[in-house]
Amino acid sequence: MQTLIKNGTIVTALGEYQADIAIDGEKISMIGRNLPGSYEKVIDAAGRYVLPGGVDNHSHFEALNSDGVTFNAGYDTSYVAVLGGTTTVVDFASNDPGKSLIDSINYRLEVRAKGKVVPDIALHALCTDFSEETLEEIPKLVEMGVPTMKMFMAYKPTPMYMDDFKLLKTMQKAAEHGMTMFVHAENADVLNVLRDQYAEKGLLAPKYHYMTRPPYSESEAVSRAVTFAKAVRCPLCVVHVSCAEAAEVIKNARADGAPVVAETCPHYLVLDKHKMDDPDFDQSCRWVCSPALRDKADQDYLWDALKRDAVSLVGSDHAPIPMYQKYWGKDDFRAIPNGSPGSGDRLNVLWTYGVAAGRITRRKLVEIFAATPARLCGIYPQKGDIAVGSDADLVIFDPGYEGTFSVETNPTGVEYNAYEGMAQRGRPETVLLRGTVVVEAAKFVGTPGSGRFVPGKPYGMAYDLL
Ligand code: URP
Ligand code: ZN
Ligand code: ZN
Repeated sequence: MQTLIKNGTIVTALGEYQADIAIDGEKISMIGRNLPGSYEKVIDAAGRYVLPGGVDNHSHFEALNSDGVTFNAGYDTSYVAVLGGTTTVVDFASNDPGKSLIDSINYRLEVRAKGKVVPDIALHALCTDFSEETLEEIPKLVEMGVPTMKMFMAYKPTPMYMDDFKLLKTMQKAAEHGMTMFVHAENADVLNVLRDQYAEKGLLAPKYHYMTRPPYSESEAVSRAVTFAKAVRCPLCVVHVSCAEAAEVIKNARADGAPVVAETCPHYLVLDKHKMDDPDFDQSCRWVCSPALRDKADQDYLWDALKRDAVSLVGSDHAPIPMYQKYWGKDDFRAIPNGSPGSGDRLNVLWTYGVAAGRITRRKLVEIFAATPARLCGIYPQKGDIAVGSDADLVIFDPGYEGTFSVETNPTGVEYNAYEGMAQRGRPETVLLRGTVVVEAAKFVGTPGSGRFVPGKPYGMAYDLL
């Protein structure tokens, strides 16, 4: 199929300009004015911006608990990402109980996601069961196109928790093979001390989630992780950085030459912790995520840090946890599964509260939403750019739309939208995944199972670029 997108304003991480885009099959074949050829489909993008399809570096469409029971809404609901302009998700693949990472990844691709996942999919290994075998798997993971691995410094004493011994050994090995490590940085002991103290006093409502996860529990773990990364020259991405105190540690480490980048998430940019003060559990449980939501001042700091390259990218940390699962913690905040949905909201939040609010430029938006996540995961420029030879993953964005975030218009795969009731400016009108229209007039028109595995290359974190 030959498609032409004409009259739009193209925005990439380098700048913006007016040009038409020709698509031949799945790839961008030409960019320019008065392009030659005949086209079966012509899309008029006058008055619209044409952005590269988003790369969501951080999603958990389907997670497992330690008994192997699946939770989160599952890959059936991954159409929500493309509705929000994200055409590639980088999902976390944890150890299935008793299985190696490689076997778990193969099972995820061949069984769990197959026939369901809508956007293209790359994977991070998520080590939730460390052994010497984990270290041996690192070169093989890199070879099979999974050049990134996440570890949790929180959630002690579950098997997900990684102590310094495990983290440092993994970072040493990762550094040898060009694997980029990702960390969930919270000091597990600090959290356990505080959570137990609150619980002993009977303080068990959702708001105690944020009170027992203060910024220092995050910044201390960030300091430790970046110290290790610098010492062993291991590329490191600190995910879901939520507050000024933690971001400041990364800013200083970067200035000092540490191979470290910070990712933040839309919810830390626009939502604050008082959402959890609502006495109605049905409301307050929705924002129980880790690290916890913070203060307005932290939001301001993070926007500014994005502008100054101290924070390099925005991932959604999409964790579509259905309400019945949130209710497991009705009487004790410690039992509420952590996480909030947001893969479909990432672009709309960044546009409304970033671009339309004058906080970031459109160019910057593309950098933090598509180009940098693609580089980090080793899938650039196949993904994350508008260039000849890149996959024809494109968002035709209508800046004139005015609406309100709601689960009806901005579905998440679960019963609620974390931004419900907030104003929205602009929206993806048409989205193409490898040349095929999957969103038209802001409605999903794609097919379950259209997503393909995108293998990543190692050494993605060329940190002079990030
Ligand atoms: O609360 C969160 N962030 N849940 C998702 C899993 C993770 O830690 O990234
Ligand atoms: Zn995490
Ligand atoms: Zn996450």
